[in-house]
Formats: sequence, C-alpha cells, structure tokens
Amino acid sequence: MSYINIKAEELNKNTFNMIGNEWMLVCAEAGGKANAMTASWGGLGVLWRKNVAFVFVRPQRYTYEFLEKTDKMTLSFFGEEYREALRICGTKSGRECNKIAEAGLTPFSVNDGCTAFKEANIIMECTKMYAGPLLEENIVDPAVMNEYKNGDFHKMYVVSIDRILVKN
Ligand SMILES: Cc1cc2nc3c(=O)[nH]c(=O)nc-3n(C[C@H](O)[C@H](O)[C@H](O)COP(=O)(O)O)c2cc1C
Repeated sequence: MSYINIKAEELNKNTFNMIGNEWMLVCAEAGGKANAMTASWGGLGVLWRKNVAFVFVRPQRYTYEFLEKTDKMTLSFFGEEYREALRICGTKSGRECNKIAEAGLTPFSVNDGCTAFKEANIIMECTKMYAGPLLEENIVDPAVMNEYKNGDFHKMYVVSIDRILVKN
C-alpha cells in the first residue's frame, strides 16, 4: 500500500458522488484513541483562501466527543467494496463496540494526531478552521427543520485540507 500526495486541484472525482453517494469516514483521535463515523453530508470547496471541507456532525455522535478534543481530523474515501464497512461505521457507535475492527478496517497514523484507514483510496488530512452549531434562528427554509425534530442540530466544521493522499 502506498499513497501519493496530490493537490486539491488535481482531484478528478465528482464531489457530489464522493460524499453524497459513496460516503466518507470522518475520523478524529484523542487521548490515544481514534473513532470514526460515516458521513454523507458535507462538501469540498474554497474559503478564506484555502481549500476546505465542510463537515456536519450531530452532538450525540461519539466521534463528536473526539472532534471536540482535537483540531485534526481525516476524511477517508473508499471503493464500493467497502460499502458494508461504511454501513457498519454509520450505524454502530464506537461507544458500544470496536466497530473499526468489525468493519475490517485497518487504522494507521498519517500525521501528528491523525488516524486514517489503509483500505481508503483517498485520504484528506484536515485542520479545523471554524466550528459552530447550526442555529435554529438562522434556518431560512422551514423544511430543514424536518431534520431536527429532536433538536440535535449539527455542528459545522470548516476544515482546511492540508494534504490529500491518493492510493497508488
Ligand atoms: C450513509 C450515512 C451517512 C451519515 N452521515 C452523517 C453525517 O453527515 N453527520 C452525522 O452526524 N451523522 C451521519 N451519519 C450517522 C453516523 O455515522 C452514525 O450515527 C454513527 O453510528 C456514529 O458513530 P459514533 O457514535 O461512533 O460516532 C450517517 C450514517 C450513514 C449510514
């Protein structure tokens, strides 16, 4: 397994498919432990002169606790053969089981305080630039409130994409 470093501009994948249809794993590490969860809401773009990702995490996720303790996170993207692994990471909580092992994924350190997975085709190493909850008073389209019947508004993280690793 080896990865090459590419520039964000060299990424030749469709963002809408990458995140919305193929999903990603958001992983953060704290206190010598890592946790990851599947996410299909988010984006890639440009802000504050940087290439960034937008990640949305509900406060009840175990991963949220990790994200609150570190400024680093990774976003990992997989081939279709890992659909079941992503389903496991998106339905089980790391609070209750070792879902990474159950999903058959192999964590490895990519950078200081950053864990990703050897099975991933694309890994983005990211650093938080902005973190804040979505606020009910700022929701313009009332239909959005259907997503928040429990009041569990996502926290939005804007993270700079420091490095993109693509499997060779
Ligand atoms: C396809 C899919 C996409 C998901 N997208 C998100 C998301 O964008 N944000 C979020 O907070 N939870 C999302 N989830 C839910 C979490 O992945 C799920 O609650 C997970 O079990 C949390 O694990 P944790 O408690 O170990 O952090 C998604 C789940 C699936 C199956």
